[in-house]
Amino acid sequence: MSESYKVLVVDDEESILKLLSKELSSPERMVHTANCAKTAREQVRKERYEVIISDIRLPDGDGLELLTEFKDMEPDVEVILITGHGNIDNAVEAIRIGAYDYITKPFRLDRVELVVDRAWQRVCLTRENRSYKHSQQSDTSSSQLIGSSAPIKQIKHLITKVAPTNVPVLITGESGAGKDVVAHSIHCASQRAGKPMIVKNCATLQKELSRSELFGHTKGSFTGAMENCDGLMTFAHTGTLFLDEIGELPMEVQASLLRVLEAHTFRRVGEKDERTVDIRFLFATNRNLALEVEEGRFHEALFHRINVFNISLPELKDRREDVPLLIDFFLNKLGQQMGQGEYSISERAMQCMLSYHWPGNVRELRNVLERSIILSDNFVITCNCLPKEIADQPERDGETGILSLERMEREHIIKALDFFNGNRQRAAQALGIGRKTLYRKIDKYNL
Ligand SMILES: Nc1ncnc2c1ncn2[C@@H]1O[C@H](COP(=O)(O)OP(=O)(O)O)[C@@H](O)[C@H]1O
Ligand SMILES: [Mg+2]
Repeated sequence: MSESYKVLVVDDEESILKLLSKELSSPERMVHTANCAKTAREQVRKERYEVIISDIRLPDGDGLELLTEFKDMEPDVEVILITGHGNIDNAVEAIRIGAYDYITKPFRLDRVELVVDRAWQRVCLTRENRSYKHSQQSDTSSSQLIGSSAPIKQIKHLITKVAPTNVPVLITGESGAGKDVVAHSIHCASQRAGKPMIVKNCATLQKELSRSELFGHTKGSFTGAMENCDGLMTFAHTGTLFLDEIGELPMEVQASLLRVLEAHTFRRVGEKDERTVDIRFLFATNRNLALEVEEGRFHEALFHRINVFNISLPELKDRREDVPLLIDFFLNKLGQQMGQGEYSISERAMQCMLSYHWPGNVRELRNVLERSIILSDNFVITCNCLPKEIADQPERDGETGILSLERMEREHIIKALDFFNGNRQRAAQALGIGRKTLYRKIDKYNL
């Protein structure tokens, strides 16, 4: 997990504060300290902490009271209590009222760090689960698939055919090509449109927690499982579950996913009985799953189960006729979002956008427009607003897209010079012309 988080250590012993703040501080973990209950309260009011470590006995209060207060102020926070020897009763009580764990003094630093890490993972899980619950209603504005090229027309046709069924769909294509858009379109065009659509990027599943995240767990089934917890399968019940980057699904849970696809049943971690669910599955990947299977990284039976109905998105450079439509769409949308007005694009800038090869596909196009809107004057996107690599496109004949020979020659020479790092001798050799001729052309084209 790369996000950073804040830890507050509350203890009246200066030495412990010093030790813990020194040892626990890391690029991901910012550690603050408080030496009494009063300061701790003030800190928690000011800052948002993810994990709090507090001594149970404080000069001006008691950790158990603080625990309840902290949880009231910041429901996601996980609290770890420090107890002296012989205070186990207190510790048990602490867990009962919602502490994440307790540590007895004297403690081992590696153990403290481990508990803090686990507490943080739990905070992440809680937050993620909540955001699923909030994002259950699929956003219809993200489901508009723009384009009139032959492949996009075909994809729209496939979507209308497959959406009303319960068939799992595998959406493939390069990053930024529109896989998410297709997934949302399918959900919105299905009978499940009013039901939850849960989206999970499998690359963010942590190996150890993936089973619990997908299927849920029962209280006490592993350290840190403080209560029963639903997984994504339960959230997606009656709706759609979109598993993005399915090629990244940890091997450990692949067989269990297959079971859901085949029998519509699953088991929570720590539970014997199977539960039945009704879920429409969508998958996306930019990997070659067949190859993943061959190389033993992906369960073969699962692959066949997933690969029933494939929608494959072509790269943007292979459907350039969609570029003007996409530009219109994004200028409209972004113009509104940024609360400004109607933007247009100059003829020359449009030509550059049409010639560019868009390695980042539609996502890159969208980002370029967003940037251009900011840089534009008088609501017109010109070449000056475009990134250099796009604005420097060779000029083409507006009608036919054909380059003039001179223009071609110029581009070609630039390429050769670039390739040989400006070495003219070698560039001339590669171009099959004399060194003097090359000098003349460099002069002519002002290179
Ligand atoms: N055909 C399309 N019509 C409208 N917006 C699109 C289209 N394709 C992609 N986008 C937009 O481009 C961005 C990237 O698309 P996304 O579906 O997230 O790509 P992928 O999932 O393939 O990486 C998103 O902002 C998305 O809304
Ligand atoms: Mg995506």
